[in-house]
Amino acid sequence: MSSINRQVRLAARPSGRPQAADWEFTEEAVPEPGPGQFVVAVSHLSVDPAMRGWMNAGASYIPPVELGAVMRAGAVGRVTASEHPGFAVGDHVYGVFGVQEYASSDGRGVMKLDTSLAGPTTYLGVLGPTGLTAYFGMLDTGRVKAGDTVVVSGAAGAVGSVAGQIARIKDCRVIGIAGGPDKCRAVVEEFGFDAAIDYQAGNVRKALREHTPKGVDVYFDNVGGEILDDVLTRLALHARVVICGAVSQYNEAAVRGPANYMMLLVARASMTGMLVFDYEERYPEALAELAGWLRDGKLVAREHVVHGSVHDFPETLLMLFDGANTGKLVLALAG
Ligand SMILES: NC(=O)c1ccc[n+]([C@@H]2O[C@H](COP(=O)([O-])OP(=O)(O)OC[C@H]3O[C@@H](n4cnc5c(N)ncnc54)[C@H](OP(=O)(O)O)[C@@H]3O)[C@@H](O)[C@H]2O)c1
Repeated sequence: MSSINRQVRLAARPSGRPQAADWEFTEEAVPEPGPGQFVVAVSHLSVDPAMRGWMNAGASYIPPVELGAVMRAGAVGRVTASEHPGFAVGDHVYGVFGVQEYASSDGRGVMKLDTSLAGPTTYLGVLGPTGLTAYFGMLDTGRVKAGDTVVVSGAAGAVGSVAGQIARIKDCRVIGIAGGPDKCRAVVEEFGFDAAIDYQAGNVRKALREHTPKGVDVYFDNVGGEILDDVLTRLALHARVVICGAVSQYNEAAVRGPANYMMLLVARASMTGMLVFDYEERYPEALAELAGWLRDGKLVAREHVVHGSVHDFPETLLMLFDGANTGKLVLALAG
């Protein structure tokens, strides 16, 4: 075990795409647990589009990361020292441990992991915040029912790939929108969607008309921007638009709003934002169902694992905005 804890801190608030100068690399001694605390050696960091929002000042659903603070990140790891009665050395855990090699914790918000069920990276993906977002977004906000036509953007990504698979499990017809032929192939062949639309190939509206002849009952939106406007033109009566995220806008100073929002009136449709943290009390029921689907082979879990050190975090984050990941993006720390 190392005695040094390498960390990545937020040095400046980015304008546009995060730059190297927005980060600072620091080193501290590995913490010792105080009474009621334990220390975790982080093995895998979750790399999420939401991190870009946490770097901004201003009101959001969670306070911004303070300048000079260790960058916030969900992570999994193993307990290396403990003065906490509920956590023993060797336990595998998930928590918001930050972009650093070691974190101390009092156990709040920390989950113990059953690694006999799935590997640690799956607890950042299908059996973690990703899967929970897809689950509640599709079933609670989207209220999908058998026979619905469902469109998912960011369909080859972490949340989108799971969201579409859940709609398929619920006997919906599911169309994914993703960037490039390889991703579209994965959406259909690996994740089992009925069809995929490559938005980089051009006319999304035309492709939507072909694939959704009866209109769209549920649109699960991960990307916002122009694609949201395109799908709004196809809403079926009483459609539900789930605003899960808007990754196309996260580096923009002026966010593009939906020009076609009057289609909500025409279709008597709803557009609703969802936040996974609102469902904390229902995580156990959702995780049990997700784990069952995974065990029964109804759900495919794909993780895109980058191997490196915490110093590779800034570059790994940018992969999300370049569309370089398929499935859940994870930074595995060489231990
Ligand atoms: N509401 C919640 O509680 C909650 C929780 C977790 C995540 N989210 C949101 O869910 C969305 C997906 O997150 P994730 O972790 O699953 O990320 P992800 O989809 O695995 O990765 C981001 C993907 O976005 C696509 N993308 C990037 N720039 C784009 C652009 N300009 N236009 C269209 N697509 C673009 C890229 O795929 P392509 O190659 O296909 O472009 C990229 O791979 C994000 O908006 C995130 O903020 C919300």
